[in-house]
Amino acid sequence: MEYIYDKMRMAEYEEIYALWRSIPEVSLSEADERECIDAYLLRNPGQSFLCKADGRVVGTVLCGNDGRRAFLYHLAVCPAYRRRGIAAELVRLAIGKQKSLGIMKCAVFILDENDVGKRFWQHAGFTAVQEADTMAKNI
Ligand SMILES: CC(C)(COP(=O)(O)OP(=O)(O)OC[C@H]1O[C@@H](n2cnc3c(N)ncnc32)[C@H](O)[C@@H]1OP(=O)(O)O)[C@@H](O)C(=O)NCCC(=O)NCCS
Repeated sequence: MEYIYDKMRMAEYEEIYALWRSIPEVSLSEADERECIDAYLLRNPGQSFLCKADGRVVGTVLCGNDGRRAFLYHLAVCPAYRRRGIAAELVRLAIGKQKSLGIMKCAVFILDENDVGKRFWQHAGFTAVQEADTMAKNI
């Protein structure tokens, strides 16, 4: 099967959003609505990727940086296409882009109960930050 990796573009937003909505581990919020994703992709151009197979979007990763650190979000692969290295390639592309921009550290938020997600990130060389908790506030 042919897998086509490409930069994420708004032209595919509906399909991308439908994929996210179909995957329980992807938690969606207002930040995932069309205008927010559009703004995110404009602010972080060419840094988020998707994978197509059989003419449809089967995998995504959102990635951007704040000038100091990169963050990865919504790494998601359609269940029928898992364990074929799609997520690993999406992450390779996203991290490669960040390195080319001079960013040397990359972080991801993983829900406590997401064991598969944790295994994936461990396999990709990510380690838990033992000495820190994440705190957040809606502003
Ligand atoms: C996590 C996820 C993106 C992995 O996608 P994928 O394309 O199947 O992953 P890959 O094929 O690139 O896997 C790479 C490696 O990760 C690990 N891995 C992936 N899925 C795994 C699983 N179900 N169990 C154990 N290890 C797993 C393996 O080490 C694997 O290498 P291997 O297949 O050679 O053993 C996919 O399962 C998914 O979409 N899950 C729901 C969304 C999610 O949890 N995203 C992460 C949120 S932070």
